[in-house]
Amino acid sequence: NEKDSHSDALVFFGATGDLAYKKIFPALQSLIRRGRLDVPIVGVAKSGWTRDQLIERARDSLNTAGDFDEAAFAKLVAQLRYVDGDYGDAQTFAQVRAQLGGAQRPLHYLAIPPSMFPTVVEQLAKSGNATNARVVVEKPFGRDLESAKKLNQTLHAVFPESSIFRIDHYLGKEAVQNILYFRFANAFLEPILNRHYVENVQITMAESFGVKGRGKFYDETGVIRDVVQNHLLQIVSYLAMEAPSSTYAEAIRDEQAKVLRTIRPLDVENLVRGQFNGYRGEPGVKPDSYIGTYAALRLWVDSWRWQGVPFYVRAGKSLAKTVTEVMIEFNNPPQVVFKEAAPSMGNYIRFRVSPNVVIALGARAKEYGDRMVGKPIELSIVEEPEQGHGGRMEAYERLLGDAMAGDATLFARQDVVEAAWAIVDPILHGPSPLHAYEPGSWGPKESDRLVESVGGWNTPT
Ligand code: BG6
Repeated sequence: NEKDSHSDALVFFGATGDLAYKKIFPALQSLIRRGRLDVPIVGVAKSGWTRDQLIERARDSLNTAGDFDEAAFAKLVAQLRYVDGDYGDAQTFAQVRAQLGGAQRPLHYLAIPPSMFPTVVEQLAKSGNATNARVVVEKPFGRDLESAKKLNQTLHAVFPESSIFRIDHYLGKEAVQNILYFRFANAFLEPILNRHYVENVQITMAESFGVKGRGKFYDETGVIRDVVQNHLLQIVSYLAMEAPSSTYAEAIRDEQAKVLRTIRPLDVENLVRGQFNGYRGEPGVKPDSYIGTYAALRLWVDSWRWQGVPFYVRAGKSLAKTVTEVMIEFNNPPQVVFKEAAPSMGNYIRFRVSPNVVIALGARAKEYGDRMVGKPIELSIVEEPEQGHGGRMEAYERLLGDAMAGDATLFARQDVVEAAWAIVDPILHGPSPLHAYEPGSWGPKESDRLVESVGGWNTPT
């Protein structure tokens, strides 16, 4: 029954770290406020801290997030415990065990660098903390296909796949869920979402800021590992997959894995990389760094539905604005009936993922007056739910709540992660050109060659 499948304690490693500060404390407080988290919460770290210090850190985190809620925070404090100790020390895990009290089915959230996973996972097993437990891990899930497989082996040595929850916070976003919902809750899309009607699909994830003090991390990662292999390929899978059978729990993830396997491995012909001017002067970045802060990809989905339809993915730092948007562009009508100055037909579906949530259909309609002249119109819904206090549900809250409840739908399954790595793996290992671009621009001009045949990039406004 549902109660038995719910985790009865939450342990998070990396309690004094950055992720806990930025995302986990706000998510915990929101879950508590909504009455979805009423179990012991154990923070673990090696910082020489006391529980009181952790509580102050949590308070500070919530204030910074602008969402301090006195009543919910008081409950969080009452549920919060803290273990300070080394991850390699059995004693630390004995203390975790003791803090769990009577809990039988804990969830362990590894908000720590992946290099520490093997140690923590092994210690969890040895100390008996892994029995009937779930584990939540954060990206990066490896650096390439091979290391991703190794990481999966490490986790599987202790946890079965059904107990592993890999967070890709894009899957927790309202707007990304709506892509899936809008596609499969409506009948009118299915006949046209295929190679007969769609000319191309474009996904843009632009950020107007640079590497924000994460120079060292970023310089070992680059844009493809940071956001393309995970967030953006997850979006591609939702856009391109076949309809999931609604009758079994793994239906959605099965379809994601299937469609990702039909995407051709990337080569340099279908890739343009860029680096913004000034990147090499960022703290932590090598002065001769060859890491891409921008990438534009043309993907080919070799399926019956999508054969020959290019899927473009473009992502970068220090671009003109911060926006994530999907455009599905349809073919023009077969003939121009109305002789107009600007015959661009502009039929499209637009999903805006952030900063606001939009679903829009682009069409043309006649302009009022005596001439048969049209104008582009958009039918759209725009959602901007209120912040905090039961309003907007942030990705981390949704995902942590789901993991506690044992619902893995919005988490990246092993085969999905590996299929996504297989797409980008070839270009991670070979040399590929790198083009400079100005901060505040839309990336290197060279990327225009990818979209020549479809009339250029769709630049989000
Ligand atoms: C993270 C990346 O996974 O996603 C960051 O490491 C990126 O580089 C971030 O900025 C974007 O997430 P969001 O939710 O702000 O769009």
